[in-house]
Formats: sequence, C-alpha cells, structure tokens
Amino acid sequence: MSGIDLGIIGTGWCGGIRTAAAADHPLVCALHIAEVRPERVAEVAAATRARSATADQQALLSRDEFAAVMISATPETTHYPMACEALRAGKHVFFEKPIAMTLDEADELIALARSSGRKFTIGYSQRFNPKYAHVRQAIAAGTIGRPVSALISRHITRGLGKKISGRVKLSQAAMESTHDLDFLLWRLASPRRSRSASIRK
Ligand SMILES: NC(=O)c1ccc[n+]([C@@H]2O[C@H](COP(=O)([O-])OP(=O)(O)OC[C@H]3O[C@@H](n4cnc5c(N)ncnc54)[C@H](O)[C@@H]3O)[C@@H](O)[C@H]2O)c1
Repeated sequence: MSGIDLGIIGTGWCGGIRTAAAADHPLVCALHIAEVRPERVAEVAAATRARSATADQQALLSRDEFAAVMISATPETTHYPMACEALRAGKHVFFEKPIAMTLDEADELIALARSSGRKFTIGYSQRFNPKYAHVRQAIAAGTIGRPVSALISRHITRGLGKKISGRVKLSQAAMESTHDLDFLLWRLASPRRSRSASIRK
C-alpha cells in the first residue's frame, strides 16, 4: 500500500492533535497545513515537519500534491464554506463536527460529495474510544442482549463549555450529543452489515 500526502486546515486544539497523529502515521508521506495564526502555524509545522505551511486555505487547496484534506477550524460558521471549497477543489474531506449550521447546508455538502465522487466523513473520534468500541462489540456479539432504549449523559468541563458556547450558538445536541447519536447509528449499522455478510456466505 502506498502512502499519501495530506492537507490540514486549522491546527488549533483538535487540528493540532490530528496533525501530530497524521505526522506519526506510516501511511502519511507528507503534510501540508493551513492555519491563520502565524505563531501556531510555525509551531505545528516545525513539530510535524510539514512539507508546506500557509495562512491561506485557498493556496493550500490549489496544491495538487494531495487528494485529501482534514478540516478542523473554528468558528463553526466556517465549516460549510470550507467543506464546499475543499470538495469543489476535488479533495476528499475529513471534517470535524458539526457538519454545518443548518440541515440544508449539511444536505448540500453530502450531495456535493456524492456528485463529485469524493469521500466525505465526520471525525467521530468516540468510535476510537475503547469503551464505545467495547459496547458496540458486545451488542454485535449478543453478549449484552438487544438494546431497547438508550440513556445518554455527557459531561464536559466548565472551561470547554464556555469555549464552545462563546463561539457558536448551536444546541448541545448538535455540538456534543452528535457523538452519542453517531454511536447509536453506528451500533445499528453493525448487525445489519454482518447479517448480509452471513447471507452472502
Ligand atoms: N472529538 C471531536 O470530534 C472534536 C473535538 C474537539 C473539537 N472538535 C471540533 O473541531 C473544530 C475545532 O475545534 P478546536 O477546539 O480545535 O478549535 P480551536 O479554536 O482550538 O482551533 C481552530 C483553529 O482553526 C484556525 N482557523 C480558523 N479559520 C481558519 C482558516 N480560514 N484557515 C486556517 N485555519 C483557520 C484557528 O486559527 C484555530 O487555530 C470545532 O468545530 C470542534 O467542534 C471535534
């Protein structure tokens, strides 16, 4: 399997973690980053040995060395226009939640990704949380029976809550419970897939 070059837009808290993980990944050959804060772009570019670094997302998207881009910027009002621009530039897009500010924008992005034949996904990081993966596996294996309802409780620190609510007016469901909704849908996707796989056998 050959490696890929990767573009990353926004290297703040989450984007910084994504950039460091990508830099360490054996299938990532080179990183190209865009970040509007000069001190942060210099810091992340040096730490991850990025091949190119810019403050200009359009300059990044015009490069043809890479086919995929991660977008991890704030405020959340930037998500929809950035994803549109990246998909229109012909890139595959790995995107942070929330996908957009409105359902119409989200639908438009999904349609754009489909019509341009590009991969488009949200970074639902909780899927890589061992607790979530374990529960999913236990449900799929039938060891904890068939779930009939789900009660979700989510706690974030006061500091993080203040940071998020200070920059965007979206519901808790859109900003945080989106992870839980994804878990429930992910959980449901598994048995269906394994049933059809066993039918095919
Ligand atoms: N587990 C998860 O799924 C998870 C966790 C944390 C954050 N997030 C999401 O990731 C996004 C980023 O969150 P964060 O906490 O890292 O925010 P942050 O504010 O720490 O970082 C965002 C970065 O984007 C940069 N930026 C803004 N506009 C830009 C542009 N036009 N071009 C290049 N860079 C630009 C900012 O300078 C900043 O460094 C949020 O939408 C958040 O909801 C997801």
